[in-house]
Amino acid sequence: MLNTNYREFDAKAIQLYDDTYSEEYREFDYKYVVSPDYAHFAPVVKKITKSFTDPIKVLEIGCGTGRYFHVLENTEELTGIDISESMLNMAKEPVRSSDVKVPIINLIQGSVFEHDFGTEKFDFIFSIGVLGEHTPLPQDLCHKIYNLLNDGGCFYFTVVDIDDRKNVKRKIAEAAYPFLPARIKQVLDKRWESNYFTKAELIEHMKVGPFDAFEVSNYKADNSGWTGAHHECIGYKGNNLTKRFFE
Ligand SMILES: C[S@@+](CC[C@H](N)C(=O)[O-])C[C@H]1O[C@@H](n2cnc3c(N)ncnc32)[C@H](O)[C@@H]1O
Repeated sequence: MLNTNYREFDAKAIQLYDDTYSEEYREFDYKYVVSPDYAHFAPVVKKITKSFTDPIKVLEIGCGTGRYFHVLENTEELTGIDISESMLNMAKEPVRSSDVKVPIINLIQGSVFEHDFGTEKFDFIFSIGVLGEHTPLPQDLCHKIYNLLNDGGCFYFTVVDIDDRKNVKRKIAEAAYPFLPARIKQVLDKRWESNYFTKAELIEHMKVGPFDAFEVSNYKADNSGWTGAHHECIGYKGNNLTKRFFE
């Protein structure tokens, strides 16, 4: 069961990503950029941005401390939105700042759910470790993101793979679920509400959503900072339906 009410999660994110936690996050940035997880995610962002033939506008949702700003290629303007002012303060001096090649960087403090981007459009939108994790990813947001993309653009994002987090007790309860009385099913449905996705849920979400094509992959973290696995997804808009980035 997927959560849809983002407001409680926005409030939690503001509380969690305070000055102290943002400083810890920045400390970890230095370890992160030499980790296998960085070696996985950074090339995906690089490869996608390199694939555009003209200079592009990029939006990063939940940009945090600006971990990936330096891997953006071919980017004339980057907009980073984050709900945490403390994280954005770190992003003013992004990770590996001397390698950042983007001439214009706009940092917006706010929730991606609430912020009005007006008539702005982007060629590439990405979000790592935010949606389907700290916040839900309801269809309303998929439509908002799709409408923010230029034709030929794409949206790369990660969500937490919930199957990787299930313990034996949960797996047994799920196997027994079809045989349980309705009122117990209701209790379990409520308890199991989550921002995280199974692979089947993500595929179904993308099938009924606005994107014209999509691809899904999976990456299990190396446990150096975070334990678990993410589904990765790229949603495409319009005339780029032959592009594919996951091998
Ligand atoms: C795990 S961090 C990821 C930061 C960055 N993407 C990275 O990979 O280092 C999650 C970030 O999402 C931000 N965030 C959470 N909810 C948000 C929302 N509704 N709108 C914008 N940013 C949000 C948090 O403030 C935090 O900086």
